[in-house]
Amino acid sequence: MTYVNNAFCILLEYIKIEFMLWYRYHNLLFAVFDAMKPPKYIEISNIIEKRIDLGQYAKGSKLPTHRALAQELDTTAVTVSKAYQTLATAGKIESFVGRGSFVYDDKPLSQVIRSGDADNEFNLSILQPCMSHNVKRLHHEFQNSFNQDFDARLFEYAEDSGLLKHRDIGRHWAVKYGLDMPKVEQLHLTNGAQHGLSTLIQLYTQADDLIAVEAQTYPGILSIANFLGRRVVGIQMDESGMCPNDLARQFKQEKPALVIVIPSHQNPTAITMPTLRRKQIAATVLKYNAWLIEDDIYGFLNETPLPAISNFAPENTFHISSLSKAVSPGIRCGFLNSPLSEAKKIAAFLRAMVWLPSPLLFETASNLIESGTAFKLADQQKAIAIKRQKIAQKVLNQFELNAQVTSYHLWLTLPGQWNADSFCLAAKNQGLLVSSSTYFCADGKPIDKVRLSVMAIDSEPRFSLALKNLAQLLDTSPMQHSQF
Ligand SMILES: Cc1ncc(COP(=O)(O)O)c(C=O)c1O
Repeated sequence: MTYVNNAFCILLEYIKIEFMLWYRYHNLLFAVFDAMKPPKYIEISNIIEKRIDLGQYAKGSKLPTHRALAQELDTTAVTVSKAYQTLATAGKIESFVGRGSFVYDDKPLSQVIRSGDADNEFNLSILQPCMSHNVKRLHHEFQNSFNQDFDARLFEYAEDSGLLKHRDIGRHWAVKYGLDMPKVEQLHLTNGAQHGLSTLIQLYTQADDLIAVEAQTYPGILSIANFLGRRVVGIQMDESGMCPNDLARQFKQEKPALVIVIPSHQNPTAITMPTLRRKQIAATVLKYNAWLIEDDIYGFLNETPLPAISNFAPENTFHISSLSKAVSPGIRCGFLNSPLSEAKKIAAFLRAMVWLPSPLLFETASNLIESGTAFKLADQQKAIAIKRQKIAQKVLNQFELNAQVTSYHLWLTLPGQWNADSFCLAAKNQGLLVSSSTYFCADGKPIDKVRLSVMAIDSEPRFSLALKNLAQLLDTSPMQHSQF
């Protein structure tokens, strides 16, 4: 009996050892197979690529959000983000902060905002002065400048980050449109407003910092944040612009390092902040002791000058203006007014980065301002904008439009059957360049609106024709445009 018992135990022990060996061997095999498998994000990027090849994700179309795809493919948003990065590096897709990721196309949305107005296209996308009205005059002014005896200092390195006389004249430009007169050392010269924005974002934020902007904002701000690795948060807007309550809520939740506001003819909504709202934004910024950038590049378009937000919080606000929209974007002359406490730091930074913007260009710009020509040119552009807005209100009267009577642009709400991206692509197909709301959405929530520039098309009859064509397209259904 004991013998049988022992044999049985030995058999059991044998089976146990065999089983353990088998188990280990299979686990090892599983581990080897696992190690041989590509990482999860590669698997996901292969799935997306297959969907693109099969046309499931059409060229130029928007890809699902990280979260939506993660849910569908049972993975995490971080893995999807890595997959999108891989595909972007391989040139299969394009990603834009605030707008999302798109399947790469020969005619991607990114090419829909374009300068210039080709014969076979109507450009309703770029916000610039109506150049045909300016060019002859500017040409003449430049020739004149070069005929005069030049101040030898214009050819040399200048004191600080620009000649004092140019900084002095720059003050007059900003003051004319609502800024309280600053000290000359507060006024810095930049290569356009964009350079002012990038300078301040570099100086007053660090990687991963949060920047609060209007829920829909100028894409140039989103691009700087994207390149420098800053996060952006969109603050709600109402008919008076950025909402101070939502800004205060954001300060209580996660304090942004910087707030950026476009108070006049906001790009893209065309909202102009009334004085009360300017005071409320200044008060909020003061309460939370934050930095504010006031990008007032369209301030010259206000029917009567409105006080700058900076006037109500001068020690917390940087004010930016430029000649790009009023005179010519090619001149690249911008003015950055800083709190007095920050003046030395900014001058030193500009000096370190570019030494100084070209004194030769600023000399011509200063002549234009000093002689009053720049203000006249700005007024002429404003008069063109008024006429163009009237035409637009007439031709597009059955659609919901937002604009001031002097704005360079319109913010158009699309009829229910359209979404912004598909409308832009359908319009592009008909030779009409308009800008989708997805370019401007800081909070990543697309809305069914597009921005129309009223200034980029040089002739009035062509502008009217472009709007008539646009009105017809707005009345059609996306189904009629088969490629979508
Ligand atoms: C709100 C805003 N800020 C800045 C800029 C850039 O201006 P600049 O050409 O002077 O760099 C633009 C141009 O479209 C803009 O709309």
